[in-house]
Amino acid sequence: MSEPRSLAGEAEQLDAADGLAAVRGRFVLDDVTYLDGNSLGALPAHVPARVADVVARQWGELRIRSWEESGWWTAPERIGDRIAPLVGAAAGQVVVGDSTSVNVFKALVAAVRMAQEDGGAGGGDGGAGPVRDEILVDATTFPTDGYIAESAARMTGCALRPVAPAEVPGALGDRTAAVLLNHVDYRSGRLHDLPGLTAAVHAAGAYAVWDLCHSAGALPVGLDEHGVDLAVGCTYKYLNGGPGSPAYLYVRRDLQPRFDSPLPGWNSHAEPFGMRPAYAPASGAVRGRVGTPDILSLLALDAALDVWDEDAVSVAAVRAKSLALTDFFLRCVGAYVPDGRVESVTPAAHAERGSQVALRCEDAGEVMKRLIERGVVGDYRAPDVLRFGFTPLYVGFADVERAARVLARTLAG
Ligand SMILES: Cc1ncc(COP(=O)(O)O)c(C=O)c1O
Repeated sequence: MSEPRSLAGEAEQLDAADGLAAVRGRFVLDDVTYLDGNSLGALPAHVPARVADVVARQWGELRIRSWEESGWWTAPERIGDRIAPLVGAAAGQVVVGDSTSVNVFKALVAAVRMAQEDGGAGGGDGGAGPVRDEILVDATTFPTDGYIAESAARMTGCALRPVAPAEVPGALGDRTAAVLLNHVDYRSGRLHDLPGLTAAVHAAGAYAVWDLCHSAGALPVGLDEHGVDLAVGCTYKYLNGGPGSPAYLYVRRDLQPRFDSPLPGWNSHAEPFGMRPAYAPASGAVRGRVGTPDILSLLALDAALDVWDEDAVSVAAVRAKSLALTDFFLRCVGAYVPDGRVESVTPAAHAERGSQVALRCEDAGEVMKRLIERGVVGDYRAPDVLRFGFTPLYVGFADVERAARVLARTLAG
């Protein structure tokens, strides 16, 4: 291979050698350089026809029969089992439904209930150790997690303590019930140490709840391998499920019998059609359900997940390309943008980087507006961050080079 003379030439060579390049053709894209898949993933081209079939045939013709004949009733667990390998979980532990916010609530309250049932550091029957009455929450969290943690704390008689993820090990104690953390920080793109932090939480006798919104579909998570207790995530970012597509809840298999949902709706009942006045929880992942699933969104997500299966896309390949894309973007920005005009707040170390690059920049809101006008779509997070998300399934190296070039031109005035 000849030496490229420019970053544009290098991008061309990198695209030619990209093993995932063909997957891009599965998505509806245009001339816009779309670097906002960490907010809303692009549309896989086959999804509209599938959704049309769900509406016209499954709903329009089969009507109520579709709950059985089209598999609507069991879709939350079936689709959960499709997401499971993407987050390193064996089947039977992931259920799809509700929003991430609602699943944070279910997971966190259930975690605190388990911790309080354990009876403190001494373990056992509820009297052996101090009361577990504190929840730690990622101080840099996406706001909804913090708001919900505050309410969960009030409901469970806990104090809520915001702590930066790196400080969590030092903040844990024998009163800690549960810790709610983000795998990747939504603003900076920092990847937190899920294995290490989960182990620290467990060593303190507490439960770890992880928000995977910015990692699932972009990098390996390893839920089972690292013994995570509970996890939640959205499906409209790197899983391309569509606007407002339902979220998912992971409850580790051995904890499922103890998962005491604060939202015990009829869909999670052991006998939902028994119409019993008293609640009795189903076993397994079903226990995480609440009410009637949002079938249209759920089946759009189901279709979107075909991209992973049909192209045999591995999370390892996605991660390798993601790091190559973000490395290349940082290099292009370094080469094109005058010194001091932007500052990357995304860690340089691969072990600490998600699949986005966040650049601190004066007038970031205005700069992003102008970038979008010029066909480079990222987003802006208050007060001063330009966010660029790199979805390896459809972003190429030429996109990366163009985005950095247009950014430099935009910053030049
Ligand atoms: C880390 C994180 N958690 C939660 C949410 C919000 O989830 P939802 O609005 O689907 O409840 C988001 C949305 O972007 C997010 O980035």
